[in-house]
Amino acid sequence: KIVAVVLSGGAGTRLWPASRQAHPKPFMRLGESSLLLQAVQRGHACGSDDVVIVTNQEHVHLTRTELKQASPSIRVHYVLEPVGRNTAPAIALAAMHCDKTYGPDTVMVVLPADHLIPDNEAFVANALEAAALAREKNLVVFGIGPTSPETAFGYIEVEHVSRKSQPILKFVEKPDLATAQSYLATGRFYWNSGMFCFTARSILDALSQHSPETASSARRVFDHASSNGDATHFDNALFGTMPDISIDYAVMERARNTWVVPARFGWSDVGSWPAVADAHPADSVGNTFATDVVALDTTGSHVQVESHGTKVVAMVGVKDLVVVDTPDALLVAHKASAQNVKRVVDILKSRG
Ligand code: GDD
Ligand code: MG
Repeated sequence: KIVAVVLSGGAGTRLWPASRQAHPKPFMRLGESSLLLQAVQRGHACGSDDVVIVTNQEHVHLTRTELKQASPSIRVHYVLEPVGRNTAPAIALAAMHCDKTYGPDTVMVVLPADHLIPDNEAFVANALEAAALAREKNLVVFGIGPTSPETAFGYIEVEHVSRKSQPILKFVEKPDLATAQSYLATGRFYWNSGMFCFTARSILDALSQHSPETASSARRVFDHASSNGDATHFDNALFGTMPDISIDYAVMERARNTWVVPARFGWSDVGSWPAVADAHPADSVGNTFATDVVALDTTGSHVQVESHGTKVVAMVGVKDLVVVDTPDALLVAHKASAQNVKRVVDILKSRG
């Protein structure tokens, strides 16, 4: 049995003001629908009517509303966190739920709720390959061909980069720039896409072995959980005792039975505004207008305005700008500085 597990956590502060605390990145619409709905449909396409969503309890209503548009055959179970403790605890609790509900051999396809994968069919073919490897007790990740020495990703070393699945020699989470550059130069690395595939038993065993404090505290949290209908709730105080650690550091860097399936699908973690712009069709001078814009002598710019068609937007003589307008916030940024948008959020937070 395959179960899709969708992780819907972080706020994605570099995508302010479209992504906010109350309306985080998974709810951002990109293309046909929100990234969250796309992730759920992608999980469903792997042959699974059961989808587990791990998310903050604060977002459960927004999530339920969003999923009214999902295929009616999808059965969602909500694992509701009082506070985010990162992906290792989130995955541990999802694995315990899968183990208890469907059995230890359940294959979990773990999908972040905020990635963009335009080609679902190619993804499903890869996911089924990963599921077969997962049934052989492996911990499987999806590798992306690296295009730059990005320091926000995990790196996966293999014997020879190829189109075939193979064992991982080394997994390094978020190396520094010099290390990332040296990895790229060898041509033996993939980026980690942040999607995983394993059985509930394999990942619980790996957590016990490589991150025992995560495994034991998550077990305590799970044993004190209360279920009502389609949702699991936890004790707030106990939940806070789990370490704040990602699955990459807790398990993937340390485990030996890890495999990589090279992605044959397009992938973006849409981490910043230039990545969002790249996900839109561009005109002949590189503009990606999600709104009707009167543009004169304007190139390489991205504009999106949530004004329900009432606001006229004009751009004159500018280049490589990002303009995002929402009812209560307006962003004007240069694409080259788009990574700094998260500092705006820090400043707004410090003002309270
Ligand atoms: N439910 C829940 N709870 N989800 C969470 C939590 C949490 O506490 N923390 C993170 N997530 C979700 C995020 O919403 C996101 O969808 C996914 O898990 C990954 O978390 P990020 O915080 O975005 O991780 P990252 O981008 O720094 O790194 C990961 O992804 C990269 C690819 O995008 C790693 O797996 C890297 O190795 C990888 O390259
Ligand atoms: Mg991320």
